[in-house]
Amino acid sequence: MASLPSPHLFPSAEAASKALASEIGELVASRAATGQPVVLGLATGSTPIGLYAELVRLHRNGLSFANVTTFNLDEYLGLPRDHKESYWHFMHDHLFDHLDIPREKIHIPDGSIPEEDLPNYCSEYENAIARSGGIDLQVLGIGRNGHIGFNEPGASSESYTHVTTLNEITIADAADSFGSPQNVPVRAITMGVRTILEARRVVLLAFGKSKAGIIRRALTPGVTSEVPATYLQLHQDVSFFVDEEAGSGLREQLGPE
Ligand code: F6R
Repeated sequence: MASLPSPHLFPSAEAASKALASEIGELVASRAATGQPVVLGLATGSTPIGLYAELVRLHRNGLSFANVTTFNLDEYLGLPRDHKESYWHFMHDHLFDHLDIPREKIHIPDGSIPEEDLPNYCSEYENAIARSGGIDLQVLGIGRNGHIGFNEPGASSESYTHVTTLNEITIADAADSFGSPQNVPVRAITMGVRTILEARRVVLLAFGKSKAGIIRRALTPGVTSEVPATYLQLHQDVSFFVDEEAGSGLREQLGPE
């Protein structure tokens, strides 16, 4: 039976980012203490920037990430790695260039794979996740249309890593960074909903007023492909870390103080 993900309301985006960074830091340190690896699923976008800054701070204070393997959720199709809007560029800029994760343990879908190789490439991405032992903790943001990764409205709950077409709201939201909607790639490689649901723990971050409506919908009982984030209601260990603004529609779910 579906159960509701638990919302955690933080006074600020910074507080929420620090809480998740400290959960990740404890996981990394406790696994390292017993010689075990950790597999993280990571997101891009404006939301996790504070989380990544905090992870970099933990590393500068002595935490090693040498036992960490990462898999990013998605990448625009048709963008070379060195394009300033590629997620490869984003992740290296905000995180990977500042941590000691061995380069071969970093996985980001490659947006420059030729069309005919895409099906094999996507299955190989899934195989690599499986070979690593599966994702221990998946970090998610959420689109205003309820997308998770680039699983857009209408996405199947059974999908693994695949090529997807971006929804018009997703394109509109990316238009500023690309200079105009026409410059936003129309397709992307994304982990599927099933890939995300197979992670052992999922933490979704959402900050700011523009996310309040979709956070309320995602946490209202009822799973629908029209709001892919509602699929998270099918997961046993998922938390929503939201700031006051993104959580402003959640009073009923949170109950009395
Ligand atoms: C990014 C991703 C997307 C974003 C979402 C929110 O890897 O998969 O689902 O998490 O579009 O983006 P921001 O954080 O920019 O609001």
